Amino acid sequence: MPIRLDQRLAAVASLVRADSAADIGCDHGKLAYFLVSTDRVKRAIATDISEESLKKARALATENGVEKVMITRLGDGLDPVESEEVDAVIIAGLGGDVIAGILDRAFEHKKRFESYVLSPNTHPEKVRRELKKIGQRVTFDRAVECAGKLYTVIRSEAGEDDLDEIQIAFGKFYKSDRDFEKRARQELKFVRDLLEAGASSTKLEERAQMLEKALYNIENEE
Ligand SMILES: C[S@@+](CC[C@H](N)C(=O)[O-])C[C@H]1O[C@@H](n2cnc3c(N)ncnc32)[C@H](O)[C@@H]1O
Repeated sequence: MPIRLDQRLAAVASLVRADSAADIGCDHGKLAYFLVSTDRVKRAIATDISEESLKKARALATENGVEKVMITRLGDGLDPVESEEVDAVIIAGLGGDVIAGILDRAFEHKKRFESYVLSPNTHPEKVRRELKKIGQRVTFDRAVECAGKLYTVIRSEAGEDDLDEIQIAFGKFYKSDRDFEKRARQELKFVRDLLEAGASSTKLEERAQMLEKALYNIENEE
């Protein structure tokens, strides 16, 4: 059965360049199924911490006769996957703090993978900081629109990265991203309006400063 992914998962799938991949927190299993059924990967391991979620992925695989190449496993984060089993790791639709925690724990357990495709629902900065820590170089980092919402999609591969604090906050390629510039101007106006209206918050002030720095860097880019 052919499957159509929404724009968020389609963007994630388009960034998977590997023979084998693990989809952590697969839930319905659509992404892993799409990857194996379109021959984008030869083998996928779809995992989830919830048996209820994994049941859906398992059913999708068996109903479509791909259970030999779409393996389902129950477990927390990268616990059910060994380094030598897959080239790429995908984690989409979880919070950035959870994704960063999963990557960190796997790294502490000496697990190493060639590339990662990550789409945090929140806190993308935590994911970027973690990637830098575990020796991954970001090769793609953009916000993708899906059903009126923006989702960060990041791809990385083994290598050194020297991301500064603005890149950690807004993405490695923010300077050349016209959509980011537009969004940053709108957000800065919103934050300044709040501060002028008397909102007192260190976080808001810090956010305004970061946005100002990012916009300054864009305007003064050589
Ligand atoms: C919102 S769904 C995202 C599903 C799919 N990845 C997507 O992007 O459409 C999140 C899934 O992650 C699973 N999950 C949450 N924490 C997890 C963890 N630490 N390890 C593995 N799976 C986890 C949940 O059970 C749930 O099925």
